[in-house]
Amino acid sequence: MKTTIIGGGGRVGSCAAFALQCGGVVAEIQLLDANRDMAEGEALDLLHGSAFSSDQLIYAGDYERAADSDIFVITAGLRRQPDESRLDLINRNVSLFNQILDSLLAAGMKRDAIVFVVSNPVDILTQIATRRLGLPWRQVLGLGTQLDTSRFSSFIAEELQLAPTQVRALILGEHGDSMVPIWSSAAVNGLPLEGLPEFTPNFQNRIFARTRGSGAEVIKKKGGAGWAVGITIRDTINAIALDQKRLQPVSSLQQGSYGIRNVCLSVPTVVGRRGVLDQIEIKLWPKEQLGLQNSAKALNEPLRKVGG
Ligand code: 2OP
Repeated sequence: MKTTIIGGGGRVGSCAAFALQCGGVVAEIQLLDANRDMAEGEALDLLHGSAFSSDQLIYAGDYERAADSDIFVITAGLRRQPDESRLDLINRNVSLFNQILDSLLAAGMKRDAIVFVVSNPVDILTQIATRRLGLPWRQVLGLGTQLDTSRFSSFIAEELQLAPTQVRALILGEHGDSMVPIWSSAAVNGLPLEGLPEFTPNFQNRIFARTRGSGAEVIKKKGGAGWAVGITIRDTINAIALDQKRLQPVSSLQQGSYGIRNVCLSVPTVVGRRGVLDQIEIKLWPKEQLGLQNSAKALNEPLRKVGG
């Protein structure tokens, strides 16, 4: 499969490319960026390691060469300041994002391609892509709360001194201030966390507060996320490339789960070669369900502003 990363010359895009190279699943990785030198430099640096990593085609290209891509990952966009919300980026990133979508259409992108949005505000931009590209809604998805879920699970494992890969605790809803911690299904190797003595309200509040503030924390310390977001992008790209039918908290146009429609946010979603295979309305605690509906409200207001 051929994957083109639009924004591949930036931190998130190049980390995603490196994660895909280490994963060795997709056959071809094209880096595309307004900063052509950066895209070429990142592609060259990755190529240098290919003899010791995997047999893939890795190069910098343009929209014309990208037209036959199976998957487009869009990471391009300006980063927020630590004291800004992701929704504050709307005025700066929407017009750039629309130009990217129009360039894809003008280049004649394949109509069965999957478009995977990472740029922020990711839920709003996923909805704009769904509308503007005119693809079936299942073919357009956003990273959503995948990265938040990874942070949440990793912090729990660190605190409880457990193997991170055995801890899974979902964050759902908006990839933003209204994100929702799903403690009801949090587990370690299938055993509910609720059964642990450490599972106190203080533990829950502390872990979730750190998760919710992680984006700003990493911006403050190093200017922005890279490695973890690259890993979580790879998790979804692999689910598409290998038709894995993995259940992931990714953003897509809601079709009625939890009473939510016509807004993009993250619910438990089955991801495969055709993109969104299913949105599963897993039973949640009442306050978790309320949190999802609050996320939908928080997104609908800015969405109206951009005519999404
Ligand atoms: C983050 O939370 C980039 O929104 C992403 O770090």
